[in-house]
Amino acid sequence: MTEAPGQITAETPPRLVVLISGRGSNLGALIEACEQGQIPARIVGVVSNRPDAGGLGFAEQHGIPSQVLNHRDYPTREAFDADLATAIEGYAPDWVILAGFMRILTPGFVDRFTGRMLNIHPSLLPKYRGLDTHARALADGETEHGASVHFVTPELDGGPVIMQARVPIVSDDTADTLAARVQRAEHRLYPEVVRRVCSGEIQWSGRILQADGTPLGAPLQLDEDTHNASPPQPAG
Ligand code: GRF
Repeated sequence: MTEAPGQITAETPPRLVVLISGRGSNLGALIEACEQGQIPARIVGVVSNRPDAGGLGFAEQHGIPSQVLNHRDYPTREAFDADLATAIEGYAPDWVILAGFMRILTPGFVDRFTGRMLNIHPSLLPKYRGLDTHARALADGETEHGASVHFVTPELDGGPVIMQARVPIVSDDTADTLAARVQRAEHRLYPEVVRRVCSGEIQWSGRILQADGTPLGAPLQLDEDTHNASPPQPAG
């Protein structure tokens, strides 16, 4: 029997490498979920393309090896991506987790990690790919917004979406208040998806995205499809 990439075995918990560029709050949520056993995996390395990324502090506090590859030191995107791939491979990861990693990746880099690289994006994909998603959703008069976790393909924010978390938009929202609400949802969403991919529950062969062996017609929804969904709120 063949195991899915990164599938949990008693002896070898899957190895995760997390890529960051900034604050690292999603990294923090993933570290906590691993430490608490919600994700039976180990974060073995953190790589940032910015020396001032706040998330590097989380790595240090939790004894996780980290390194900075400053994209400004590289003449081309290809040269940066080549060193980034080497740095990642140095940790021998089962999964590469993009958590606020603000770089467009070259197709060659993506090909190297296809099927074992995830990203979190602050919108209900396929809506609002790219930047400034919160302001754009507000400008369009949307009534809800959210975040999506997807497998990474060469198309920006275009890979198959595994799961989404939805949040309401309220009347006095600004881009900042909405972003904060979405981020709180992200901190539950990402650990849940990483748990599922590490357990082999979610599989993507490059063609068909499956959950528990069944093709996924639409993204899973956090709280509707989670085993550990939030308890129902009392009525009234
Ligand atoms: C998150 O909102 C994520 O959706 C986006 O970048 C942000 C990163 O935040 N890709 P943090 O660095 O994890 O706090």
